[in-house]
Amino acid sequence: MNHEQNLRLTQVGSGTPGGLLQRRFWQPVALVEEFDPMLAPDMGAAEYPRLIKAVRALGQDFVLVKNHDGSWTLMDRDCPHRGANLSFARYENMSTLRIISAGEVPISSQNTAIRCPFHGWAFQTSGDAPGQCIDTPAEPEGSTLCQHIKQRSYPVQEKAGVVWAWLDDKETNGSEGADVPEPMPELDCFHAPASHSFAFKGLWHANWLQCFEVGMDPAHPSFLHRFLQDADLQETGSNAGGKQFRSAAAGDVAGERWPMTRVMRELHRPKLSAQAVQSDTLQGIRITALRALSEQMTHVRMTQAIFPHVFVIPLSETLTITQWHLPVDDGHTYWFSVFTSFDAPIDQAAMRAQRLPYTTLPHYIPKAGAHNAWGFSPEEQATRTFLGMGEEDINVHDQWAVESMGGLQDRTREHLATSDKIIVLYRRWLARAQDAAANGQIPPPLPATQSLSEPPGTVDGFAPSESWESWAQEQLAAKRSKASWMK
Ligand code: FES
Ligand SMILES: [Fe+2]
Repeated sequence: MNHEQNLRLTQVGSGTPGGLLQRRFWQPVALVEEFDPMLAPDMGAAEYPRLIKAVRALGQDFVLVKNHDGSWTLMDRDCPHRGANLSFARYENMSTLRIISAGEVPISSQNTAIRCPFHGWAFQTSGDAPGQCIDTPAEPEGSTLCQHIKQRSYPVQEKAGVVWAWLDDKETNGSEGADVPEPMPELDCFHAPASHSFAFKGLWHANWLQCFEVGMDPAHPSFLHRFLQDADLQETGSNAGGKQFRSAAAGDVAGERWPMTRVMRELHRPKLSAQAVQSDTLQGIRITALRALSEQMTHVRMTQAIFPHVFVIPLSETLTITQWHLPVDDGHTYWFSVFTSFDAPIDQAAMRAQRLPYTTLPHYIPKAGAHNAWGFSPEEQATRTFLGMGEEDINVHDQWAVESMGGLQDRTREHLATSDKIIVLYRRWLARAQDAAANGQIPPPLPATQSLSEPPGTVDGFAPSESWESWAQEQLAAKRSKASWMK
């Protein structure tokens, strides 16, 4: 790939082919918990909660407002007067505003607005005209200026503990763009109730594509996440406290349960296959990694890459992670993970407490990074882990892989191998989909795409080598039948 191709694949700015493509998908822009003053250090106190937050996505700056009735509003961040940052605006109830030329604006105590602290211009955040300027208090009496000013706003919705935005915009991208948002993709994590779901996020200092390419690479766990010893399965239990690769693979080997760490360590040459899939609401690739243990037994790990930047992977027999990779801009990415339990409710407080020691709030920036060599320990690398960057939080392993390439990996210098076949297939889709988006068209499916009748699922376990495919289907069905929320 040459430099121009690398830039084209990775850029997300307004008007670029990649930016046009990304704007045809719902993007995660914040965790709901970021607006909880009890959890978020920058959101005031219970009596004086802050309801407005700056968010950045696809190289653009926005303000996200949580209205007092629980609804959300997303607008451009720069005040249309002289550009001040509206994330510091006052949140006001419209019935308390001194409205000038308010004839056009329906007023009720339910309506709310944000008011720029620079010169007091106010913008509606509720009702049918979010972004409408409703007050310009420094203007002469009788001014009708505000009627002609409207801050751009975007469709937004809350699901699975995450706030999602539809950032497509005809005016900005100059193409035919979609006026009406597409439906959300049909994924299990959107069906689970709040009790069976937990969402978290983290910032990586790198382009979104290299973040996603680590996630869809089934060969790397055998190395990057290799533990030289296994944890005691009695202690870790079936969910391993939400830790990746610490629980047991489904099924047994001659009566013995195997921790995933042992599977990954001992069977490090997976046979990969990729099946392009689609349903009415999504396109993706089903990824199967087969690790043959003997002629009779094969370890099967089935994961999913959903376009443009989501993966679904198993954490244990009953927990999955669905992870988005929001391009904040060309050099930064927020991963948003939604954990979904198909079995017992999730202890959200425990899951959160487990992650907080590795994170700096309010921006969810990992404490490890290039500045402290990601916590690298030569002693650990020699004795306990393949990488030497910690055993508790394996997220830092992926973070190192992603960030150590630099903000933008120089793909002109890479050598793709057989184990990179999923990445090759994905890039083929991405290039075609960007071309389509640049022409105002819907991304075409990959050749030989299979139709899905249910959401893409995940499997991890030992199967009879002869019949692993039917075994995987049975595992999937069994997992779904366990979930009370599926019925
Ligand atoms: S810059 Fe916002 S009111 Fe003047
Ligand atoms: Fe990983």
